Amino acid sequence: MLLPDTHFSHAPSHDDHRTMIIAQITDFHIALPGERMDRMFRTATFLETAVEHITSLEPLPDVVLATGDLVDRGIPEEYERLRGILAPIGVPIYVIPGNHDDRDTMSGAFADWDYLPGNGRFQHYVIDRWPVRLIALDTVIPGKISGELCGERLQWLSDRLAEEPDKPTLIFMHHPPIRSGINAMDRHGFDAGAPEMGAIVEKYSNIERIVCGHLHRPVTARWHGTVLSVAPSTAHQMGLNMLEGAKQQIVMEPPACQLHLWQPDTGIVSHTSYTGRYEIPLSVELP
Ligand SMILES: [Fe+2]
Repeated sequence: MLLPDTHFSHAPSHDDHRTMIIAQITDFHIALPGERMDRMFRTATFLETAVEHITSLEPLPDVVLATGDLVDRGIPEEYERLRGILAPIGVPIYVIPGNHDDRDTMSGAFADWDYLPGNGRFQHYVIDRWPVRLIALDTVIPGKISGELCGERLQWLSDRLAEEPDKPTLIFMHHPPIRSGINAMDRHGFDAGAPEMGAIVEKYSNIERIVCGHLHRPVTARWHGTVLSVAPSTAHQMGLNMLEGAKQQIVMEPPACQLHLWQPDTGIVSHTSYTGRYEIPLSVELP
């Protein structure tokens, strides 16, 4: 049974709406207890730590974006476990699918979160309750690791951007439409639609950020007149290896979330916030 939806019950932390903090968490890969991802990479434990981190932030973020690969096999039981882990987060959480998710199972598992389109449809949507307009894209190709934006999804994005050409806007999507230089990941990157998306994006000067997951490490690029960034996973990371032909390598570099702070005079400033404990063991007083 799914836990009750509590995350809309708290007021946003910035009621005056002069600033906005968008927390981004990604690539949780939640599996069932005792399964390989759970045993080897402790993905559920790492997400619990990330949730503790977010709920202890001062001020709290206004929203949390979860940018795909929420679970590992896309089965209902994994989403049920995921919801239990996310339950302490008291602000709205906006989810999109990654290549490890099942689009329909995900939308069914979060059906009571009122923003998701129903089963059988692309899980893209717009949230327009805050100073920054949030546009969620669905880049999934069922059965494939790589992603795409087909003609229907590109048209949908073009139509949504045309609705509000002046309001600060953030786009979030799982697969980054760039070649990162990490060849092992780029082989499973973006199959189709990246140049076409770029041609749409570059018509607009109000797109503050495009934020993505999938690469399991922090990456930033200039892209068609905006800034594109990739957040690290809340659990395991991918090794930084730019050699041609290199194989995928999982490394346990520190997990993190990203905090995208929007202020009217600066636009978005992004911070990588590590989600473990890194205190100095002794009390040290700086001069
Ligand atoms: Fe992933």
